[in-house]
Amino acid sequence: MDFNNILCQKVDGVATVTVNRPDKLNALTYETVGELDTCFAALGEDPEVRVVVLTGAGEKAFVAGADIGEMAEMTPSFAEKFAARGQATMDRIEHLGKPVIAAVNGFALGGGCELAMACTFRYASGKAKLGLPETGLGLIPGFGGTQRLPRLVGQGRALEMILLGNMIDAVDAMAIGLVNKVYPAEEFTDSVRIVARNLADKSPLTLRVALKAVNEGMEMSQAGGCRLEAALFGVAGSSEDAREGCRAFVEKRKPVWKNA
Ligand code: COA
Repeated sequence: MDFNNILCQKVDGVATVTVNRPDKLNALTYETVGELDTCFAALGEDPEVRVVVLTGAGEKAFVAGADIGEMAEMTPSFAEKFAARGQATMDRIEHLGKPVIAAVNGFALGGGCELAMACTFRYASGKAKLGLPETGLGLIPGFGGTQRLPRLVGQGRALEMILLGNMIDAVDAMAIGLVNKVYPAEEFTDSVRIVARNLADKSPLTLRVALKAVNEGMEMSQAGGCRLEAALFGVAGSSEDAREGCRAFVEKRKPVWKNA
């Protein structure tokens, strides 16, 4: 797949998607968001891809937000279209059915922070900074940030970040649950690669079902979510991979997954 603003490569079941506008700190134009959408749609359908790592090109940024130059000229109809495209892409990533790791290697601001929040896990380099600075531009988050941030960190902290628009460092982001873990910058790429490898070695079917249970359950009452869990436990439990996983444990060997 060839794109103008992103790179995509696949190695041993792990796809790496890199937002590639380092001179603009990987800011998201309308075209870039469309390319991410096309790329993730293809990765979701690709049976060779078990896990996706999403990151930013260059030394400074994951993604420093939506492209402010483009937004400075927005008409109301473009603004609505941009938000709708962004939200659809974030939803696609969140519901890909495969784990997506945000490798937050630097600034993750505005739409960049929202992009990271749509991913399954967020790992940050020690030099990363995160925030939703939109109010300083006379805007509000438009790619799902007002909804995902309070679900991740609680309403009070989310409002503080959204209304004040301050950036926080990686360690503070971990303390409030916005990132899962912080790795020293020099170990960051290798550490993320190890997690991605561990995920790629699991049964894709089992991960897909677990993701569905958690993500769809989050939209339900606890009782409804538990009913969904029981139904999905039935799906996982009656799979060939469940038989193989349990047999392999008893026989003291590594399971060989069939994704069935
Ligand atoms: N949209 C468009 N261009 C952006 C951008 C964005 N969100 N973020 C950074 N850039 C561009 C800068 O304009 C600059 O381009 P130039 O060299 O052509 O002037 C280049 O990226 C480098 O950024 P610069 O500001 O010089 O780097 P810095 O290290 O001094 O500051 C930031 C880094 C992240 C603090 C600063 O770039 C910033 O505040 N960016 C905007 C963040 C934001 O508000 N995002 C939310 C948008 S809704």
